[in-house]
Amino acid sequence: MSRHETTHWQRQLPSAALARGQVLATSCGGHDILLYRSAAGQCRAISAYCPHMNNYIPNGLAPGEPLAALLVEDELHCPFHGWRFNGAGQCTHIPSGQRVPAAVRSGRAIARTWRVREREGYIELAGCESQ
Ligand code: FES
Repeated sequence: MSRHETTHWQRQLPSAALARGQVLATSCGGHDILLYRSAAGQCRAISAYCPHMNNYIPNGLAPGEPLAALLVEDELHCPFHGWRFNGAGQCTHIPSGQRVPAAVRSGRAIARTWRVREREGYIELAGCESQ
């Protein structure tokens, strides 16, 4: 992005529609995104597809289980094999016995995230336009 390029923020939903500890599935610019609010009130946006095996994360929930069950200690938990991701997209937990990729060992972010801000009562995301 050049110095003169301005960030394009895209409105998603009213801030009041996302309570602390709540997770919502949304899309922006063709990306499937999980939007959640931490216990401290911070909004986060992370890809709805797990970087482990590219599964759509909500599909790992048991029937009737709410999306909020994906949050464990303010991190996104993938129900398929138990990997967890922080708000920066870094994997913070892989259950024992599973191979840990080099990117995870080195602390690099592996889950795509989007910048989030709240303006005038709305949650907005940046970066949705780039595939
Ligand atoms: S597909 Fe998410 S942990 Fe395996």
